[in-house]
Amino acid sequence: MSSILITGGAGFIGSHTCLQLLEEGHYLYIIDSFVNSSPQIVERIERLFSKGHEKFEEQFNLIGGDIRDKILIENIFKSSIENKHAIEAVIHFAGLKSVEESTLNPSLYWDVNVGGSINLVKIMEKYNCRTIVFSSSATVYSTDNKCPLSEDSQIKPSNTYGQTKVTVENLLMSLYNIKGEDWKIINLRYFNPIGAHPSGLIGENPRGKINNLFPYLNQVASGQKKELRIFGNDWPTKDGTCIRDYVHIMDLAEAHCLALKYLLQKGKSDFLSLNICTGKGTSILELMRHFESVNSCKIPYVFVDRRPGDIAISFASNDLTSSTLKWSPKRNISDMCIDGWRWQQLNPNGFEK
Ligand code: NAD
Ligand code: UD1
Repeated sequence: MSSILITGGAGFIGSHTCLQLLEEGHYLYIIDSFVNSSPQIVERIERLFSKGHEKFEEQFNLIGGDIRDKILIENIFKSSIENKHAIEAVIHFAGLKSVEESTLNPSLYWDVNVGGSINLVKIMEKYNCRTIVFSSSATVYSTDNKCPLSEDSQIKPSNTYGQTKVTVENLLMSLYNIKGEDWKIINLRYFNPIGAHPSGLIGENPRGKINNLFPYLNQVASGQKKELRIFGNDWPTKDGTCIRDYVHIMDLAEAHCLALKYLLQKGKSDFLSLNICTGKGTSILELMRHFESVNSCKIPYVFVDRRPGDIAISFASNDLTSSTLKWSPKRNISDMCIDGWRWQQLNPNGFEK
């Protein structure tokens, strides 16, 4: 059992990962500003946790606050030492993730994603905690690469959000290069995480405008939105719609637990970037048809213009991740559609009543 600081642990990927880490017996300090999540996640995670209330109270510590707040982060590290559960590693999810918003408000994205990460690693150094798993993205890759992408494909993000992710990867690389400091670092480059915990109690809870395909699809299926607007049917793909590498959120959460285990067991410094993907591309129409078939529903849709900044095809090899972490995705597109839809049906307004 280890003590882990989870930034952004109330969010979509963070909440699923926290649950698995709790089940593995880890002691968690979670910091989240709730800018894109809800404190109600605590009660949901507790309901799912198998070891009872007392253990939950002991293992799960959620602190509301911002990763840019130096005093707060430092106090978390200090109190972890006082409580004899000194933080040994960090999983760094906290950040803003809308490509569109990042082009409209770039200084906010640089401040939160990069400024917040600099703040975090400075305090980690001060408290001799040099193990970190960082949430990176498929968006770091150049759109000129041919698919399947691999970790050594060309890096050239085409938007501010992606640039902030590459900058944090570079920051972490420069820490790894410090002689004698023994940083242990994994950048997980997620492709398209969708689905939800099979209980339907936790899932994706986007606030404000919905940009991503799957939450939008869910809301069309539930009747909250009239129709799915498919951005382009003239892409150079088999059916004209874009192809993505969708990965089940539960598989993604398992990858974090394995990445953490790998680093904690590692005797010396390390720096790795790993794709979290299935290696399979699925078009929007294919995803929609799967969703309709496994959930016995009909999705009204229209084709509209391409969305600026989109690419036709994005999928990647997970060979390096499989061989390094002994991870492979266990769930398929049908599981993603069934579990994601269950979450939507049980929580039509997310965590809001
Ligand atoms: P999310 O928005 O659900 O989770 C991020 C969490 O960070 C939220 O709970 C939010 O409230 C919190 N947060 C944001 N700014 C903060 C700040 N300044 N201080 C403290 N907490 C803050 O998003 P997610 O999908 O769970 O993504 C987690 C990470 O993975 C993000 O860094 C995101 O960029 C990255 N990522 C996500 C995807 C995806 O498709 N979901 C793909 C690639 C990378
Ligand atoms: C997007 C971001 C990516 C980010 C990821 C997670 C862009 C260009 N990329 O990935 O950087 O890491 O979200 O936040 O924004 N689509 C529709 N109708 C919709 C929504 C989406 O047709 O209402 C299409 C898109 O054009 C795309 C596919 O569905 O072809 C998937 O879109 P989305 O879920 O936004 O993911 P990405 O674009 O792959």
